[in-house]
Parts: sequence; structure tokens; C-alpha cells
Amino acid sequence: MAANPQFDVYRLPEEHEAVKAATREVCEAGVAPHAAAVDQAGEFPAKSYEALRAADLHAPHVDGEYDGAGIDALGTAIVIEEIARVCASSSLIPAVNKLGTMPLILAGSKELKAKYLPQVASGEAMFSYCLSEPEAGSDVAGMTTKAVRDGDFYVLNGAKRWITNAGESKFYTVFAATTPDGGSKGISAFVVEKDDTGVSFGAPESKLGIKGSPTREVFFDDVRIPADRLIGGENEGFKIAMRTLDHTRVTIAAQAVGIAQGALDYASEYVKERKQFGKAIADFQGVQFMLADAAMKIAAARQMTYVAAAKSEREDGDLTFYGAAAKCFASDTAMEVTTDAVQLLGGYGYTTDYPVERMMRDAKITQIYEGTNQVQRIVMAKQVLKGLV
Ligand code: CAA
Repeated sequence: MAANPQFDVYRLPEEHEAVKAATREVCEAGVAPHAAAVDQAGEFPAKSYEALRAADLHAPHVDGEYDGAGIDALGTAIVIEEIARVCASSSLIPAVNKLGTMPLILAGSKELKAKYLPQVASGEAMFSYCLSEPEAGSDVAGMTTKAVRDGDFYVLNGAKRWITNAGESKFYTVFAATTPDGGSKGISAFVVEKDDTGVSFGAPESKLGIKGSPTREVFFDDVRIPADRLIGGENEGFKIAMRTLDHTRVTIAAQAVGIAQGALDYASEYVKERKQFGKAIADFQGVQFMLADAAMKIAAARQMTYVAAAKSEREDGDLTFYGAAAKCFASDTAMEVTTDAVQLLGGYGYTTDYPVERMMRDAKITQIYEGTNQVQRIVMAKQVLKGLV
């Protein structure tokens, strides 16, 4: 049969297949072996970071202009998916580097980009994103961290909570109110450095999952930074934060797809080995139906994620909807698939001797961070009602 070029639309381009294969190889050799240990110790996966850094997969999205690997949004999603398949904590290295730097990439000055992006590209520094506060999680506009202009400086005071990779990262995008009572129209974005005087960190949160990725509070006590660390214009921060999340919710969708695939891969091998009632449990139709449902939902989540990634790369007008939809659908899929994987392993699945309970714990956060799945539905509904979908 003659090749029909239209079918190629549904196939990953060769370069992306190559990224997938190369990342899998690096992950099997350099990330998977540490996944259980970093989860149990609650330690940052330093060895995984080195393996990813050696392969230039720690911040793949940074453009070649800034000495980065220059992998597009789809390729970056694939990298994150493949890392998450073996270690969700490690997948937060490229995901949060993208999240932290996206405000700069979207709205930063040439000088700011030239100063900070090459350090992330080389792996010398990581970049975190400080948006949430103790009393302002979903309600971003309710933040109380303040930045007050003082000559050629801004002075920051306040606290951010649940900051991924806090303490490990050298740089932070920090959102702060520059116009009191200005709500979403009074917030600005800044680059803050770990070594700036007045920056400090809370104790690591004791979490259900992603235990290898430190989550800490970040405190700002009269932190005086040069005014040129402002990202974009004053009071433009809320929109920069939302535009960033449009792009990076795609990376959380990819992380969720990877976690789900890791659990299915493990469970589908296990059921072929495990014998009950005189035969492998894979021979029971009830078990087969669970595997089929998992594979079907992962395939749907992956397609939606890749489409959203392509929209992120092109900056399509409906990215806001697709980023939220992919994140919501893929994270719900990951929670369901990992829970079923534990079920398929029975009593063994409930122990730390097998990786599926870790995957189930790790999956849960994908329904919460970068906006809860309830917030994703608010975002999607707004787009539907505006007639944009
Ligand atoms: N792009 C551009 N502009 C946008 C936008 C977008 N995606 N979304 C909203 N805006 C604009 C609106 O158009 C509006 O502008 P105008 O007033 O000029 O019309 C302005 O921003 C305010 O928008 P809303 O009225 O919709 O704002 P809201 O206060 O009702 O909030 C919300 C909306 C969707 C609930 C938002 O606050 C939100 O997304 N909350 C969730 C926060 C979140 O995702 N936090 C994640 C933290 S990071 C994290 O979790 C990282 C990690 O650990 C790994």
C-alpha cells in the first residue's frame, strides 16, 4: 500500500522518537537505580541530576542561544515523561527548571536572559518558581508578599510556601505585590538569588510523595534586589504567572503520563509471573480488563499531552484550555492507573519492596500542583464560555 503522508500526523517525528529512546537509556542506567533510595531517604536525587546533566536533559528547554539543548516543548515533555516513568522526583529537575525560567523566557529582558539562562543550561544552577503562599494557593491574586521600589532597588518581604526544589535551586522567580490592593493587576515578577541577603528557607515539608524533591518555604526579610531584576513590566506579574502555567501544565501532564506508564509496565510484567489458582493471574479476564483500561487511558492522556505540547511550542491561542485539560486528564489517569497497579500486585503492592506504592504516592501530587484539578476546570470552563474552544 502506498504511504499516505496524512498518517504521519499521528506519528512522532523521528527526532522526537530519538529523544525518547535516548532519554530512556539514560534513565534506565542513571536514574532508575536511585529512585527507591531517594524516596526512602527523602533526599534530593543528586546522582540522577548528574546523569541527566551529563546527557543535557536537566533543562532541555533552554534555547541554543543561551547554550541550552534547545529541545522544543514536545521533546521536553517526552524527556519529563521518560524520567517520571522511573522516578517522579527526578522528573521535577527539568520540569521545575522550565517552570522557574519560563517567566524570563516569556517576558524577561535580554540582559536577564543572558545572565541567568546559561547557568541553568550548564547545570550549574537550578531555577524555582515562587508563586504560592500559606494563604494564597489557588487564589494567586490574594498574595501578600510585597515588593516596594526604593530608588534603583526593590525590597521584598513575605513568605512563599510549597516551593519545589527550594534550597537546591540557586535562582527563584518570585511574584510579589507592587501595588497594594491591586489584586491581579498589582503583582510583579522578579529574579531572586539564593544568596541575596534576607532570603531563608523553612524545613523540608514531610510529604506523601515526590519525597526526593525538596519542598520548602522561602522567606524574604527585607531582601534588597537591583530593580533590573524585574521580569517584564511592573504589575504585569499575574499574567506572566498564568502564561507560564499554560506552558508548564503540559509538563505536569507529561510527568503524570510517565508515572502511569511506569506503573503499568511494572504491573503487566508482574501479572505474567504471579501464579494463583494454578495459573498466571494474567490469564484471568478481570486482570486483563484492568490492564486494558490502564493502557487505553494512558494512550488518551499521552495524545492529549503531546497535542498540548505542540500548542505550547506554537503558542496557539487555545493553549490555555489544552494545558489545563491535559494536566487534569493525565493526572487523574495517573492516580487511577497507579492505584490499580497496587491492586494488581495485591499485598506485595502495598509494600515498599515494590515500586508501585511509590508511584501511587507520587501520582497524587500531579492532581494538586500547578493548580488543583478543580482550578483546571475553572480555567477550562472560562475558555469554553469565551467561545475559544
Ligand atoms: N494568560 C494570560 N492572561 C491571563 C491568563 C492566561 N492564561 N489567565 C488569566 N489571565 C488574565 C485575565 O484575562 C485577567 O485579565 P484582565 O483583567 O485584563 O481581563 C487577569 O489575568 C485575571 O484573571 P482572572 O480574573 O481569571 O483571575 P482569578 O483571580 O479569577 O484567578 C485562577 C484565576 C485560574 C484561579 C488562577 O488564580 C489560578 O490559575 N490559580 C491556580 C494557581 C496555580 O496554578 N498555582 C500553582 C503554583 S506553582 C506549582 O504548583 C509548582 C510546583 O510545585 C511544581
